[in-house]
Amino acid sequence: MMNLQPVTISEDEKEFSELKSIIKRKIGFNCEDYKQPHLKRRLAVRLRATASKSYKDYTQVLLKNEEEVKQLKETLTVNVTELFRNPETFDSVRNNVLPELIKRKGINKVIKIWSAGCSNGEEPYSIAIMLNEFLGSSAKRYNISIQATDIDDDSIAKAEMAMFQAKQLEKIGQERINRFFLKKDNNYQVIDELKKLVKVKRHDLISGPKFSGFDIIFCRNVTIYFEQKLQEVLYLNFYNALNDGGFFVMGKTETLVGPAIQLFKRFDLKERIYQKKEKI
Ligand SMILES: C[S@@+](CC[C@H](N)C(=O)[O-])C[C@H]1O[C@@H](n2cnc3c(N)ncnc32)[C@H](O)[C@@H]1O
Repeated sequence: MMNLQPVTISEDEKEFSELKSIIKRKIGFNCEDYKQPHLKRRLAVRLRATASKSYKDYTQVLLKNEEEVKQLKETLTVNVTELFRNPETFDSVRNNVLPELIKRKGINKVIKIWSAGCSNGEEPYSIAIMLNEFLGSSAKRYNISIQATDIDDDSIAKAEMAMFQAKQLEKIGQERINRFFLKKDNNYQVIDELKKLVKVKRHDLISGPKFSGFDIIFCRNVTIYFEQKLQEVLYLNFYNALNDGGFFVMGKTETLVGPAIQLFKRFDLKERIYQKKEKI
């Protein structure tokens, strides 16, 4: 019979620090910025999988085994997501944010959106579909770009492909599948008209360059894993990256913290949508 007893892991803080510096060196992942209990839970997954009894044991595995480096990276970057995740948030963006944005745009026809921590592309392509549905035939009068960024190379590669399995499309409805996807073998690819709106690139929110000029920023279910001090810095970065009156959409379980609270208006608190206050 299989032994289902969990492996007991010894958590020595010195060994933990050493492991974190190896991870930084090998993966470029800055563990110190992530909530430590979350980090330990993620590491425990790999310690168990490799039957390591301590951080020291696991460090040895990591140093010897490149496949484990890949596995660890996947475990640390939680990529779980879906198309139109929290549909009620998309409904609010569509019904409240987009009309306000279009009204403010006037003759300026440039719409710039950023999906920060885009995982495999589910979020940016949902945004592209939502915009197409909202704007209808007037979409062609707008110069739309959706910047999709993530720290994880595998996610970036998948997001660039814009390819989804049938199972991933189950919740979005047949009409959207017919309109916005092309069947390729057993998978479905986002049609070119929408795919070309989405520019995917690797970007680390913590150490990467700062951006500007966005009308809407989606950063959902990413900062939840970061220490509060870092969250505060990132929310200020998002504030600076937005145009006046631009919108910041957070994850349903995330809360604005730090100086950014004063700089944003609560636009739809239930859906965690904030609006950048105009400069006086
Ligand atoms: C749970 S997914 C969120 C996907 C999508 N935004 C959603 O709400 O469903 C979290 C994503 O954040 C990315 N991530 C984690 N740390 C990051 C960092 N420092 N910079 C950029 N992306 C990061 C992960 O690779 C992962 O794809």
